[in-house]
Amino acid sequence: MNPVLNPIRMGRYMLANRLVMAAMTRSRASYDGTPGELAAEYYAQRAGVGLIVTEGTQPSDDAQGYLTTPGIYTPAHIAGWRKITSAVHDKGGHIFVQLMHAGRMSHPDNTPHHRQGVAPSAIAPGTGMFTATGMQDIPAPRELTTEEVRQTVADFRRAARSAIEAGADGVEIHGANAYLVQQFFAPSANARTDEYGGSIENRARFAIEVASAIAGEIGADRTAIRLSPGTTTWGIDEGAEGPDLYRYLAAELDKLGLAYVHIMHQGNEPLLADIRKLWHQTLILNRPGRPRDQIGADVASGLADLEAYGQMVLANPDFVLRLKTNAAMNEADHNTYFGGTARGYTDYPALND
Ligand SMILES: Cc1cc2nc3c(=O)[nH]c(=O)nc-3n(C[C@H](O)[C@H](O)[C@H](O)COP(=O)(O)O)c2cc1C
Repeated sequence: MNPVLNPIRMGRYMLANRLVMAAMTRSRASYDGTPGELAAEYYAQRAGVGLIVTEGTQPSDDAQGYLTTPGIYTPAHIAGWRKITSAVHDKGGHIFVQLMHAGRMSHPDNTPHHRQGVAPSAIAPGTGMFTATGMQDIPAPRELTTEEVRQTVADFRRAARSAIEAGADGVEIHGANAYLVQQFFAPSANARTDEYGGSIENRARFAIEVASAIAGEIGADRTAIRLSPGTTTWGIDEGAEGPDLYRYLAAELDKLGLAYVHIMHQGNEPLLADIRKLWHQTLILNRPGRPRDQIGADVASGLADLEAYGQMVLANPDFVLRLKTNAAMNEADHNTYFGGTARGYTDYPALND
């Protein structure tokens, strides 16, 4: 049997298998950030994986970047998420809410408050973003003051508490894919001269403070982080020191005893091997575009404890059953990824439909 189908203990949780649904934004929340009515059904359909990581969810109104993404900072948000976590738990699944602050990857047309995005520095990402009126250039963000950086750490802490109140098993800090946390790592996005910019220690400080604050609030075993070392999209350049920053970060975060680190692999194999050695807790690995016949290889080799998949789980509510029975997988429909209705969301066929 593929070792990825074996159960695994992750801190206080016993997971049914070593497969993870990677976070995927679906932009189907209501305008105020309350998760959409179909979200509970969507996640419950996929509860057969050992762990679901939800779509990126903003911890504050300034953290939103895209249209109709959910939040986790108002009573309505909490009530909405509670329906989702209950539906997943009823199916025996586990669910971590991904806390995502978009930072400079934000367009004022996409948020109810229409404010400028906020970021380590007032440097535009040099790319466009989808808005209600089509693609538009992303304007330069406003630089956070030192006090506001600390406030943002507190926003993450409060949002984590709200996620637990909503019944989540934990939270995953989105430290990947060119969003706020990674913007602090990259000299191309962070030109700060306070304690959050400059040296490796300073650029890693925000991530470590967010992780420490959340771990202090809800417990380290319910706190996790996603990283994508070496991302080069949307104006992110971590420079020659990038790998050393991640070695430092992995060693520092390891001291906190977090539930897991989730690496969205960008290709640096020696760095990945180093992180594996530096990290003593659970390691989840996502290799974008990994073909089906490679599923389980990283667990088998010992490089990862769990493997995360995105689009295959999006398109296959019964992903685990299809793996077990060697059945064909549905293809994902890119046209229905963001926004819209049940189409391409809750209507992918399962084998026994
Ligand atoms: C529609 C879509 C939305 C995504 N949204 C997020 C997100 O909110 N947070 C995140 O960390 N990654 C996000 N990702 C990246 C996925 O988690 C995953 O890393 C990526 O799809 C590569 O894995 P795969 O080839 O198995 O799909 C998204 C990917 C897709 C396709």
